Amino acid sequence: MTHVPYERNRQGIAVTILVCATAFTATRPGLADEKADCTTCHKEQATLLLTSIHGTLACQECHGGPSNYMLGADDMARYTRATAPGEIRTAFGHGDAFTGKATRADVPNLCGKCHSDIERMNPYGMRTDQLSAYWTSGHGKHLKETGDDRVAVCIDCHGSHDIFKATEVTSRTNPANIPATCGECHGNSELMSEFDLPTEVVDEYRQSVHGTLLFEQGDLGAPTCATCHGSHGAAPPGFASVRTVCGQCHQHASQNFATSIHASQEEHKGCVQCHGGGPTANFHLIERITKPTGVLIDRYKHLMSIDPEASAEDVAHAINPDPRRIINHAIDSCTDCHEDLEDDESLPKLFALIDSIAAAEKKYVETAAYLDKVGQGVILVENERFKFEEARTHLIALAPLQHTLDIDKVSAKVAELDKVCDEVNTDLQGLEADLDRRYAALGPMWAFCIVFSIAIYAKFKQLKKRYVAPLP
Ligand code: HEC
Ligand code: HEC
Ligand code: HEC
Ligand code: HEC
Ligand code: HEC
Ligand code: HEC
Ligand code: HEC
Ligand code: HEC
Ligand code: HEC
Repeated sequence: MTHVPYERNRQGIAVTILVCATAFTATRPGLADEKADCTTCHKEQATLLLTSIHGTLACQECHGGPSNYMLGADDMARYTRATAPGEIRTAFGHGDAFTGKATRADVPNLCGKCHSDIERMNPYGMRTDQLSAYWTSGHGKHLKETGDDRVAVCIDCHGSHDIFKATEVTSRTNPANIPATCGECHGNSELMSEFDLPTEVVDEYRQSVHGTLLFEQGDLGAPTCATCHGSHGAAPPGFASVRTVCGQCHQHASQNFATSIHASQEEHKGCVQCHGGGPTANFHLIERITKPTGVLIDRYKHLMSIDPEASAEDVAHAINPDPRRIINHAIDSCTDCHEDLEDDESLPKLFALIDSIAAAEKKYVETAAYLDKVGQGVILVENERFKFEEARTHLIALAPLQHTLDIDKVSAKVAELDKVCDEVNTDLQGLEADLDRRYAALGPMWAFCIVFSIAIYAKFKQLKKRYVAPLP
């Protein structure tokens, strides 16, 4: 037996190990494996999720898949390498437990899995009715009945990875963003025409008194699409239909409307029958017709400066280009029931109501302007101003009152307003007359003073002459 020298032996072992190791790694790439999890390859989604309200959720909750993968260096490079935009990356085998990307139709149940689970939502004090409400909405019903996934599903209104609470300004459900969120589809005329739905709603809403309030004044008290239509259900909770939702904020108008003959008409569309800008305007162009009192006074002053003989109609016209406009817009929809508007006495009755309000407004602004004029002088008009506050209250009550369509009720309110205006006018006239009298009374006083001064001067001259010796 020949002995192989130790050195050669050692070399041989090293070579063998190297060969074996190389062969081993070539056939079993696992040896150089690296751990990769979802975030290794999907950084974009991971970043979005982390900063969202779902920051603590794992990707697997919605997509399935293992908590991590062992990948060879090649695969790792291949799948994580940045690719040019639009380039299609090789499909990656995500494993058996991977459920992939939910289809749009499956999204409601995916989100609902947690959000309708009372135990799961309890720690957060969150409601669990979104999914069940969703199935009662126009969107949900259509999806369920036809499988057509072009309707809104949870991710259209909330996003998929970038979901926030509605109170966050970046949230799609933040009131200021809702019109744009709904507008994605409801402003898309191609899509909407297929469903026979109007596309103007979004623009009309933006122009409406409510839209102006929201966008220009940032007033979150203004209703948005979701306030009136509900976010998940067919109508907001507690309301039988969209049409009854106005009363939530406009209580006086609603209570008065409820007593009117129209309230008992089944076919009557309620508030939007008159305020929706007519049947072609699809109920969103709700405009401000009654000007705030300040505007009323300014317009009136301007009008009086150019035409001192202004009539009630002129004033109404200056305050609003046409106070009957709102009804003129809506008239097409009135003919459903009032067949012949020429003969029908309803319209003249309504216009009589509107005109009597216009006349009352005129009186109000005249009185207000008088009060201002007198107040600018030396007379104190604090009492009259205080009294006039009552007129303002009556004026504000007038507009909603006409919703009763009851001329007696409106006339009674107009009379109350007139009475206060009359009292204030009488008071002001009294104060002015009083001032005149005081000015008049000042005449003799001045005359006396002048005569007295002259007499004293004369006396002074006389005494001076008598007692002050001229200088030598
Ligand atoms: C090694 C990289 C890699 C890892 C790790 C990885 N993915 Fe992917 N994933 C890809 C590639 C590549 C695609 C296909 C191309 C694309 O969409 O970018 C893909 C596609 C997807 C898709 C879209 C599927 C579809 O139907 O369009 C989802 C969802 C997804 N991955 C989720 C996950 C989740 C969840 C994990 C973790 C459990 C994960 N991925 C782990 C690389 C990876
Ligand atoms: C709350 C559920 C939810 C969670 C958690 C979630 N996803 Fe998604 N993901 C979705 C939905 C829903 C879609 C489908 C979006 C669509 O159709 O537009 C989606 C789509 C994807 C896609 C396809 C490309 C895209 O953006 O549409 C990838 C990739 C993806 N998710 C990766 C991830 C990764 C990685 C994580 C973890 C960091 C994760 N997702 C966590 C719900 C989720
Ligand atoms: C795995 C369970 C789970 C799934 C699936 C899930 N969520 Fe959530 N979601 C939660 C939890 C938990 C919270 C509360 C997180 C917190 O407040 O910290 C939450 C919060 C929310 C909120 C914020 C609620 C608020 O307080 O205003 C919205 C919106 C939301 N989820 C929408 C969705 C949508 C849309 C989907 C589907 C794409 C979805 N969720 C899927 C668990 C889940
Ligand atoms: C992804 C597109 C999409 C988004 C986003 C969307 N909708 Fe829709 N919506 C539709 C489609 C499509 C229909 C027609 C479905 C049908 O025929 O019932 C519809 C129907 C409606 C209807 C009439 C049916 C009914 O429910 O009475 C209303 C109202 C409505 N949507 C309101 C909204 C509001 C409010 C928002 C935003 C909070 C919104 N939609 C967001 C696609 C969308
Ligand atoms: C048409 C748009 C729309 C769709 C579709 C929609 N949501 Fe919402 N969701 C909203 C709006 C708007 C809010 C905010 C409501 C608020 O602030 O009062 C909201 C609020 C929520 C909240 C917060 C808690 C609450 O109820 O106020 C959760 C959770 C939620 N949605 C889950 C879901 C889930 C789950 C789905 C699908 C089944 C879904 N949403 C579908 C518009 C939508
Ligand atoms: C002040 C309340 C209010 C607001 C705000 C509002 N709507 Fe409406 N909307 C209505 C009323 C009332 C109707 C008529 C419903 C009826 O005839 O029963 C309607 C009708 C609709 C319709 C037609 C439904 C059909 O079946 O023909 C769509 C679509 C719609 N609205 C979408 C929107 C969108 C999108 C927004 C936001 C840009 C919005 N609405 C804002 C009250 C509102
Ligand atoms: C969420 C509350 C809310 C809802 C719901 C709502 N509005 Fe309004 N509306 C407002 C606010 C706030 C204003 C501004 C009032 C103001 O500044 O005097 C306003 C103003 C108006 C005005 C102008 C009033 C004026 O002072 O000139 C009319 C008309 C009107 N709304 C009609 C409607 C009708 C019709 C509906 C139902 C389709 C409706 N509103 C639903 C809050 C609401
Ligand atoms: C028969 C037509 C008609 C109907 C129906 C109607 N309104 Fe009016 N509404 C008017 C007219 C006309 C004015 C204008 C008054 C003015 O110029 O002073 C008005 C004024 C208003 C104002 C502004 C005045 C104010 O209160 O400051 C609001 C708000 C209002 N309506 C809400 C409603 C609501 C809510 C409903 C449903 C409950 C409704 N309207 C139903 C005709 C109608
Ligand atoms: C759904 C049916 C219906 C619609 C739509 C309708 N009305 Fe009427 N209206 C009636 C009925 C019924 C009466 C009571 C009988 C009568 O006087 O003709 C009435 C009465 C009236 C009255 C008089 C009330 C009284 O004291 O005599 C006025 C004013 C009026 N309507 C205005 C309008 C205007 C303006 C419109 C359109 C914006 C309109 N109506 C739309 C059914 C309707």
